[in-house]
Amino acid sequence: MYIALVCAVIVVFLLTCHFKKDSQIATYLPGPKPVLLFGNVLDFLTSTTKFLTKLVEYVETYGEIVRIHLSFSRDFVLVTDYKLTERVLSSTKMLDKSFLYDSFDNWLGTGLLTSTGAKWRSRRKMITPSFHFTILTQFIKTFESVGDNFIAKLEKLVGKPSVDIYPWVSLCTLDIICEAVMGTSVNALDHGDSEYVHSVKTMCAIVMDRVFTPFHKSLYPLTPNYFREKKALKVLHSHTDKVIDKKINSKSAESVSDSEDFGGKRKVAFLDLLLESTIDGKPLTRADLREEVDTFMFEGHDTTASAITFALYTLATNPDVQQKVVEEQKTIFGSNQKAYVTASDLQNMKYLELVIKETLRLYPSVPIIGRKLNEDVKWDDITLPKGQAITLFIFGIHRSPKYFPDPLKFIPERFENYEGKEPFSYIPFSAGPRNCIGQKFAMMELKTTLSKVIRNFELRPSTPEHVLLLAPETILLSKNGVRISINRRKWE
Ligand code: HEM
Repeated sequence: MYIALVCAVIVVFLLTCHFKKDSQIATYLPGPKPVLLFGNVLDFLTSTTKFLTKLVEYVETYGEIVRIHLSFSRDFVLVTDYKLTERVLSSTKMLDKSFLYDSFDNWLGTGLLTSTGAKWRSRRKMITPSFHFTILTQFIKTFESVGDNFIAKLEKLVGKPSVDIYPWVSLCTLDIICEAVMGTSVNALDHGDSEYVHSVKTMCAIVMDRVFTPFHKSLYPLTPNYFREKKALKVLHSHTDKVIDKKINSKSAESVSDSEDFGGKRKVAFLDLLLESTIDGKPLTRADLREEVDTFMFEGHDTTASAITFALYTLATNPDVQQKVVEEQKTIFGSNQKAYVTASDLQNMKYLELVIKETLRLYPSVPIIGRKLNEDVKWDDITLPKGQAITLFIFGIHRSPKYFPDPLKFIPERFENYEGKEPFSYIPFSAGPRNCIGQKFAMMELKTTLSKVIRNFELRPSTPEHVLLLAPETILLSKNGVRISINRRKWE
């Protein structure tokens, strides 16, 4: 009796929410037929490994601008049309994020990734100088020292026919970002299974789950994810709080503004710079600091882990490409296999850069991003109304034969003369005013780490052959791991 009553209340509630539609939804666009109450959500009540294929299928069936209905008025328009992508991303007005980001709130607050309006503008202005080239070059030392430890761990995997490298890469990038952002090491590579890494993974999976869940957000506290999220956030926030406390109490933060520190004599963490920053003459509050540290820890760790892992996989499965990378490394370092890189070495790694670009085309770390239109957008014979959520399907754009012939083939050379082509058809770091602030940092980290790995090891495909099961759990990953074989490299 009691259960029947609860069910009846839920059904009435669902119906009420369903029929209380947002008048601004572009229902006239083509798209899959919605089912009463559930919209198209039933298509996504399956493993996340099916999501990307489903979205690609929608694009193939309905075109480059598709309406998808997720129930509770949470419709979005899936876009793979590069011109519309350009219009949205290059606008200085359409900067607000869509509901896809709502479930980040408890974790990241309104840090740089999720904030809007005046708050976003002032934060972006304040943080941009921290990513100046002269500051970034000091992080090469961090990439190198963590990289040495990473190589030591990979040494233990030499000769095995099949190794999942993702967990190791993920610990490596976590150590790098902790040093760079907080100035402290969590020694994740040494302590193996870090609780922090697990909690990041849990949060990424939950964020994606919540987007495609048929439940209204008011019912979220009744779901198992709510309790998993609470547990994960306790770990994540207490870690960040501890680091901020330590920094505030340490004397090191006091002398950050000494100009000689920026010359690279002493490592300055991103948090040091935040502690020195002001907006309208006022320093950041404790809550401000936490949301930015959490944002940079998330954005700066999982994205690079995904990119490095897929780059190692593509090198292992494309021996000709790997050979060209090795030849370039030999030209730069000669017989010095163990040399530490300099900023100018990194600039000379032109072919490795093409490999990274092609990896991020096929495996973009951030496969979808969302915006909310804050004005009507006229497009051909349609008008996308103000308030409409737009999902830019980066993964779909990057794999479209319209922009990239033979899209599933790994061909780094296609980026040799890419400048001047449709720039918004290749957007692994997004583009426009809200692009990735950490792009240069990421490229330096990727080049330093990949250069080190490739000079030490020869990478081969795993035995038995490994087929990736791609899943967009906020960040792109492979659900069955990323398996390759690692062998010691002779350097003569
Ligand atoms: C391969 C590595 C990376 C990729 C592919 C990547 C990609 C992206 C993309 C696509 C966005 C736009 C997100 C959106 O519009 O919702 C973004 C934003 C952002 N990224 Fe990255 N990212 C990478 C590495 C990093 C690193 C290393 C950091 C920090 C050290 C970072 C910090 C950020 C921040 C703070 C934003 C929000 C910027 C804003 O809204 O103003 N990213 N990134």
